[in-house]
Amino acid sequence: MQQTNPTAIQTAPQTAGSRFVRACLRQPVDRTPVWLLRQAGRYMPEYMAVRKHHSLLDICRTPDIASEVTITAAERLGVDAAIIFADLLLPFTPMGLDFEFVNGEGPVVHQPIRTLEQIQALRTDRADELNYVAHAIEKVVKHFKAPRPDGDQLGIIGFIGAPFTLASYMIEGSGSRNYIEAKKLMYSTDGSWPLLMEKLITVLVAYAQQQVEAGADVIQIFDSWAGALSVPDYRQYCLAPTTELVQRVQALGVPVIYFGVDTASLLPTMRETGADVLGLDWRIPLDEAWSTLNYRVAVQGNLDPITLFAPQDIIKTRVEEILKAAAGRPGHIFNLGHGIVPATPVDNVIQLVQWIKESGKS
Ligand code: CP3
Repeated sequence: MQQTNPTAIQTAPQTAGSRFVRACLRQPVDRTPVWLLRQAGRYMPEYMAVRKHHSLLDICRTPDIASEVTITAAERLGVDAAIIFADLLLPFTPMGLDFEFVNGEGPVVHQPIRTLEQIQALRTDRADELNYVAHAIEKVVKHFKAPRPDGDQLGIIGFIGAPFTLASYMIEGSGSRNYIEAKKLMYSTDGSWPLLMEKLITVLVAYAQQQVEAGADVIQIFDSWAGALSVPDYRQYCLAPTTELVQRVQALGVPVIYFGVDTASLLPTMRETGADVLGLDWRIPLDEAWSTLNYRVAVQGNLDPITLFAPQDIIKTRVEEILKAAAGRPGHIFNLGHGIVPATPVDNVIQLVQWIKESGKS
C-alpha cells in the first residue's frame, strides 16, 4: 500500500521549502501549516464585493478574477496554502451536462442522469475546455513565486471532485438527503455505474493534469458526500474508482489530499486509496482518527467550522485541543472539518490562523 509519493519529492524540488507540502509528505516542519476549507467565500467582504458584479461561474471562468479572489483570501488570512477558486461541478459542462447555481440553493442540474443511455452520451474528450482553471493557477503561482518573509513557499492547491460525490450531483440533480436516485443507479446491474465512474475518471485525470502542469503543488480530491455510504457500499462501488483516481493523480507528481464529511467509519477504507493525506471532519477526535490509521498517512483538520461563531476563548481552547491531539507528529495540516459558512465573523477566522501559527511550533 502506498503511503507517500516519492515521485512528488523528485519532480517538485521547488516545493521543498513549503511547510504545507512537507506536511503532506509527513516530513518535519517548523510549525503546523494551516489553510481553511472555503477560505475564499461569502463570509469575506472582499469576496462579496467581487460577487456583487460577477456570478459564481463568471468568477470561476475568468482567470484574472479567480486568481485575484484566491490570492486575496490567502493573503488576508495569512495561511500557508492557497486553494484555487473554482467549483467541483465545472467538469460537467464539457461532459455535456448543463447546470447552474441557484442563489441560496446550491447547484442544480436541469436534466439529471438516470439511464445508461444518458451515461453513454456523456463526453470525455473536451476536458481542455476547462483550461481557464489552469490559467488562473498560473497567475496564482506567479504571484506567490517569491518565498515569504519567513522563507516559506506558499503551497498552491488544485482540486477535483471524487467520483461518488460528482456522480451524486449528476444523478440527483442537486444536493440530496437520502441519495435514493444515486444509490439506485449505483446498485443497478446494467453497467451504468462502472461506465459513469470510468468516464468521470477520464475527465478528472485530464483536468488534474492541467492543474499540475500549471503549477499546483498538491491536488485535493473532495468526496464531500462519501459519508452517505455504508462501509460495504463504499468498498464495493467507490473504493476501486477512487483508488484509480488517487493513484493516477499521484503519478502526475503531486501529493493527494482525500477529503470527505461524516467519514469516521470510512477512514480506514479511505486510506486504502493510498492518498497521502486524509481530510477529517470534526465529528471524530483527531487523535482517535489518526491512531485508527496507525499514523501511516498525513491528516488534515479538524475544527468544527461553526466553532468560529463561539467566543474567542472557546475557539482558542478547541485549537489547542486539536494541536495537542496531533502532538507535533509530522503530517498534520490544520484545517476546519468542513467549509467556512456565510456570516462567520472574519476577525475570528483571522485570529484562528494567528493562534495556530503561534501555538503550532514543534
Ligand atoms: O476557498 C474556497 O474553498 C473556494 C473555492 C471552492 C468553491 N467550491 C467555490 C464556491 C471550492 C473548493 C469548492 C468545492 C465544492 N463545490 C464542493 C466541495 C467542498 C464542500 O463544501 O464540501 C462542493 C460540494 C461544491 C458544490 C457547491 N458549490 C455547493 C454545494 C455550493 C452551494 C453551497 C454554498 O456554500 O452555498 C456551491 C457554491 C460555491 N462554490 C460557493 C463558493 C464560494 C458559494 C456560493 C457563491 O459564492 O455564490
